[in-house]
Amino acid sequence: MYTSVAFILASLLLGSNCLSYPQRSESKYVKNNSVPKIISHENNIAFGNYNFSYETSDGTHREEKAELKNAGTENEALAVQGSYTYIGTDGVTYKVTYVADENGYRAFGEHIPKN
Ligand SMILES: *[C@@H]1O[C@H](CO)[C@@H](O)[C@H](O)[C@H]1NC(C)=O
Ligand SMILES: *[C@@H]1O[C@H](CO)[C@@H](O)[C@H](O)[C@H]1NC(C)=O
Repeated sequence: MYTSVAFILASLLLGSNCLSYPQRSESKYVKNNSVPKIISHENNIAFGNYNFSYETSDGTHREEKAELKNAGTENEALAVQGSYTYIGTDGVTYKVTYVADENGYRAFGEHIPKN
């Protein structure tokens, strides 16, 4: 009876110790709830075209530009090109570039499967 209670207590203590290690090693990214600061930003709109970009203190960067193609025709379409970069919870910097136009949305990145 006493040995099984002691065994259960020891298992619980060991279990909680094991669980605390991954949390500690990830705390730099997961537990930092401070609001990232905007380091730079730019925004331009002109004649159906636009572009913008921004960068924040958490390592995030995004830029996008759009151009109106075939303006005034029935084939009028906005052609968008952009990219975003962020640091994942694993500490790795991920970059995605994308295109969105009359042929749909396509995203590219080293971590994104190609097909
Ligand atoms: C963004 O738009 C502005 C104004 O139209 C233009 O001068 C600038 O070259 C554009 N920047 C990019 C990166 O396309
Ligand atoms: C949390 O993040 C901010 C900005 O991203 C950074 O300045 C600060 O040092 C971080 N704090 C910790 C405890 O990592």
